[in-house]
Amino acid sequence: MGVRGVDVRLRRLKNVTCYWHRGDFVAHAHRGHSPVALHPSTAEILSAFDTWTTPAQAAEVLDHLHPETVVKAAGTLLEYGLLAEEGSPEAEEDERLADAWGPWAPEASFFHYATRDVPFETATPELRRHLTRDGRPALFSEYPEADRVLLPRTPDPRLSAPLEQTLYRRRTHRSFSAQPVSLHDLSILLRTVFGPAEFIDGFEFGALIRRTSPSGGARQELDAYLAAPNVTGIPAGLYHYNAREHSLELLREGFTHAEAGALCVHQEGIDQAAFIVFVVAAWERLRSKYRHPRAYRVSHLNAGHLGQTFALAATTLGLGPFQTAAFDDTAVEGHFGLDSVTHNALYALAAGHPTPDTATDTADLNAFRHTTLRPRATGTL
Ligand SMILES: Cc1cc2nc3c(=O)[nH]c(=O)nc-3n(C[C@H](O)[C@H](O)[C@H](O)COP(=O)(O)O)c2cc1C
Repeated sequence: MGVRGVDVRLRRLKNVTCYWHRGDFVAHAHRGHSPVALHPSTAEILSAFDTWTTPAQAAEVLDHLHPETVVKAAGTLLEYGLLAEEGSPEAEEDERLADAWGPWAPEASFFHYATRDVPFETATPELRRHLTRDGRPALFSEYPEADRVLLPRTPDPRLSAPLEQTLYRRRTHRSFSAQPVSLHDLSILLRTVFGPAEFIDGFEFGALIRRTSPSGGARQELDAYLAAPNVTGIPAGLYHYNAREHSLELLREGFTHAEAGALCVHQEGIDQAAFIVFVVAAWERLRSKYRHPRAYRVSHLNAGHLGQTFALAATTLGLGPFQTAAFDDTAVEGHFGLDSVTHNALYALAAGHPTPDTATDTADLNAFRHTTLRPRATGTL
């Protein structure tokens, strides 16, 4: 497909992201086309097609270039799917895409489409060669120099509560009493959610951890960092949960409810929670097996699983769970001394003793009056 004439109106796709990758200038249409390496000067030509423009008009604007160069480049960019012809299905889809993703574009739409339909890839022979014992990321993270408290391992009959009862009692709490959470309860929660349940044979990957939540490739790249303003038996402070020895490693003494509020951008009730567990990704553990960026999606799914297990375990212990993705990433990672490069916080899981319910949040007749229960027009989703 080329430009049929210099009078055909073309426009640069709205859903294109350009970047440099390993020395190449790359233009990446979000839908349907592979990324293409271009000469950086092509950006100027793409720029000339910001709105519907004929190649002849573009050539007039780019008067420092030979008109034939502009017309030829427009044809090539059309073939690459970086320009679309007015009225074409490509142009229509591009409009729909831009409308649909709205304020999430380009960051979210680029990532989503760039990681779609990828071939399933597990360890390549090249990767396997690097998987010597020394090349494998450590199964557990730890702070060997830190002061630590070894946590109790006493079993707790409350975990045997019927699943159905726990599932339907679970709700997000946003109001907590000043009663501290016991170290026993915190310990059970950490062990149940983040501790190893057993070890499985990952063959060339060595022994891998199975937790109570599923984890893509059993990589267990997600660690627990604890901010505890109100737990009995440990000083208020910041800790790392050492899952190997079931201990809390002290990273910084002192942590207040007010700091919790500030870290979690003042989400309602977070400044009353007895503790917050920040779920932190140690990327290399996942990346050492999964080389494709789609694995980044997997890590967020893994975090969701841990969040659900946390909420159910907290509920069965009589605690009120709260979870949020609303936190100041830089401040959280800075507090725990994480470098924000190899480790990033993904999720905040908090709990405390809930205050007795005052207002009900059950939807009443009035709420349903303001609800759209089904699509307005037939044929739409
Ligand atoms: C990933 C995730 C992020 C959330 N972020 C917030 C938040 O920032 N603030 C908040 O008040 N609730 C947050 N929640 C709680 C939801 O609002 C809550 O789950 C929803 O209202 C349904 O209520 P329920 O959990 O009681 O069933 C979050 C929940 C999830 C799963």
